[in-house]
Amino acid sequence: MSRKGKIILIILIILLGVTIAYLVWPQPTTTSNSQRTVISTINLPNPILEGNVSVEQAIQNRRSVRHYTNQSITLQDVSQLMWAAQGITDKANNLRSVPSGGQVYPLEVYIIVGKDGVTGLSEGIYHYNPYNNTLEKTSESDARSDLSQAANGQAWVKEAPVDIVITGDYSKMVAKYKDETLCTRFVNLEAGHAGENIYLEAEARGLVTVALGSFKDDQVHTVLGLPANENTIYIYPVGYSAYNT
Ligand SMILES: Cc1cc2nc3c(=O)[nH]c(=O)nc-3n(C[C@H](O)[C@H](O)[C@H](O)COP(=O)(O)O)c2cc1C
Repeated sequence: MSRKGKIILIILIILLGVTIAYLVWPQPTTTSNSQRTVISTINLPNPILEGNVSVEQAIQNRRSVRHYTNQSITLQDVSQLMWAAQGITDKANNLRSVPSGGQVYPLEVYIIVGKDGVTGLSEGIYHYNPYNNTLEKTSESDARSDLSQAANGQAWVKEAPVDIVITGDYSKMVAKYKDETLCTRFVNLEAGHAGENIYLEAEARGLVTVALGSFKDDQVHTVLGLPANENTIYIYPVGYSAYNT
């Protein structure tokens, strides 16, 4: 082969390599799951990364609370809670506030907002998009009563101004690791990390919450209109404690 031919061949091989690397490398996505119909998008304020409560104080004082006042929380509170649960903390490497087995990030976070639950935010069901720190509204209705029914009648779900729901896509993990038992463990453990962050962030902001693992999976799925590939792992009602007043 001539010298010119060799150079062209090398260039073609490099181009092919770059194309393959681009296609197989995980790309950050700014779009939502296509199975989710988004009515409108709300920009969240940036999370504030300094507070008055130390991690040690938050761990020491964290308690599950099941009765709330009807005081609204703020959009800043929502931003902090979403960020704690799944926010992007390293944009360059696309890493999040919560560790993820194999960096798969199979969790999705929703916030169910009651009427007057959040100042400046209408009631409805919202999906958190961590890539651009937005809430994607998927329903206009106050779903707290129906969610409470789906959570075996736990009254605190409808009493709280908001409920955070963590879902997991087990198939996303299985696509990487194949072993279903391992993947179920990985996804559920990751939801535990997100949940503890919600507890601690709530505590740091003077809010309270409780982790709920008792609910009817299929009923929550219907109430929230979740995509088929997502299963609910946790529900977190959040509000101001009724015991402090
Ligand atoms: C996996 C898991 C599931 C839970 N499910 C519920 C639940 O469905 N309803 C509820 O009221 N509390 C639930 N809890 C909260 C526990 O009852 C609570 O953590 C426990 O009473 C200890 O209290 P503390 O969180 O204040 O330390 C759950 C906690 C965990 C870790």
